[in-house]
Amino acid sequence: MCDQHDHGRRTPTGEDEFLLDTPESRGFIARVRECIAAGATPREACAAIEPHFARLLATEGWLPDEFAVANPHSGMGGGIGQWLLFRAGDGSLSLFSLVVPPGEQTPVHDHLAWGLIGLYRGEQEEDVFDADEHGIELDRTQRVLPGGLYSLFPPRDDVHRVRTVSAESSISIHLLTNDTGCVVRHTWDLTTKRIKAFRSGYANADCGEHEDTPVEPAEACA
Ligand SMILES: [Fe+2]
Repeated sequence: MCDQHDHGRRTPTGEDEFLLDTPESRGFIARVRECIAAGATPREACAAIEPHFARLLATEGWLPDEFAVANPHSGMGGGIGQWLLFRAGDGSLSLFSLVVPPGEQTPVHDHLAWGLIGLYRGEQEEDVFDADEHGIELDRTQRVLPGGLYSLFPPRDDVHRVRTVSAESSISIHLLTNDTGCVVRHTWDLTTKRIKAFRSGYANADCGEHEDTPVEPAEACA
């Protein structure tokens, strides 16, 4: 069970990394890869992954406590813990938990890859935005309950923020087709409408050679 995590952060090896190394995590990733290989399009693959994802979210005790805690040094701010569970050696897939303490919310951000997000614990409210180089505006707000799933197909539904509305931390599980924590993404300031580049990182894994690459501010779109 995730022995390596107890010995500190991991750097990318170019090989598949299971920071949560259990039959559940290995079985889930194997099913996901089958669905991606068989799907003619991301939407088709995503639909095939959904029942497997729903089953994982409904499984009691599959996520150890060490991946379900806040992180005071969060790259997202607000003590938000982003814990890597798995990533593919070629950067084409990652699975991580996002722990948002009560009353906290993420910045408005993008993901830059298609995938699925599901709620495991707590309750969240999600604001989904329409955003492009000309501006950003709120499209909808939705409540997400445990077992609830939603998908992203950038640029559709790729820009959002989530906040915890339960008395306990919310824990969402992210399955995305990139190494999300290590990719340079974007945050939006809704007051100034400015876009900033950022890399969220992971609480328990490094980004290797990308770690020292300066993150340049992205174009402002005010
Ligand atoms: Fe997100």
